[in-house]
Amino acid sequence: MTELYLNGEFLPLEDGRISVEDRGFQFGDGVYEVLRSYQGKIFRLSEHLDRLERSLAFLQVPLPEPRERLVAACQRLLSGLGNATIYLQVTRGAAPRAHAFPADARPTFLAYARPFRPDPADRTWTLLSLTDDRWAHCDVKTICLLPNALAKQKAVQAGCDEALFVREDGTVTEGCTTNAFLARGGMLWTHPANHRILHGITRAVVLELARALRIPVLERMFTLRDVYEADECFMTGTGIQAMAVLAVDGRRIGEGTMGPLTRRICNAFDDLVRRELFLREAARA
Ligand code: PDD
Repeated sequence: MTELYLNGEFLPLEDGRISVEDRGFQFGDGVYEVLRSYQGKIFRLSEHLDRLERSLAFLQVPLPEPRERLVAACQRLLSGLGNATIYLQVTRGAAPRAHAFPADARPTFLAYARPFRPDPADRTWTLLSLTDDRWAHCDVKTICLLPNALAKQKAVQAGCDEALFVREDGTVTEGCTTNAFLARGGMLWTHPANHRILHGITRAVVLELARALRIPVLERMFTLRDVYEADECFMTGTGIQAMAVLAVDGRRIGEGTMGPLTRRICNAFDDLVRRELFLREAARA
């Protein structure tokens, strides 16, 4: 049975009930987070909760419960699961339908965990570039994901794994569920962390790893042509960590295999998870 935490109570997922006037349902008036656990331990939990608080602040919705209670709920949801993703969602709550904020709505808060299905062992993707027609606050992790869902569907229908968003000015922003990195001449490039992209927790980890490995990083905008001409390209996200990109729009990137910089980052990522979640705890014990 999958357990759901809904507004302070635990119940079976299929028993969860939310008002048809919930503003998440009617207006997309809410935010979310996706966290990942490795053998029951959550990776970069406080960074995810910080981002949840930033997204909520943008909506002027309070954090529904103190962080310690959210953390305790997540830990209970993970019991028996090991490798899992946890989905957290907060909406402004239920109120008679009107666009302006209701005076007294109580936020709806829900969380549940699902076993994490690892991606295929080859850890490679192909991408389809599509116009980035999202709004101007992509740094807010809003549940308004229609443009992302439509883009993912187009990519899948074209036989690809992920979409790559390109703005009208020709710059590449990110994927519909991932951040984008290029490698060129021994350097990594990624879009600056501004309002055009989600400030991925995994993106920040990759920047940390690159610094530790002394790989120079440029947080600078790049174009689709830069992607086509890159030595390597990879995408990052909480579930997948990093996926090497073999082709974009049917054009081979670099050698068309996982390149050496991507491989170094992937290996360093696995080491970091091990050190941070397991070795440090073992040293403390
Ligand atoms: N997606 N960019 C977008 C638009 C995203 O939706 C996500 C995450 C990322 C990567 O962020 P992070 O490294 O913090 O997971 C980048 C989640 C996983 C999702 O919607 O399922």
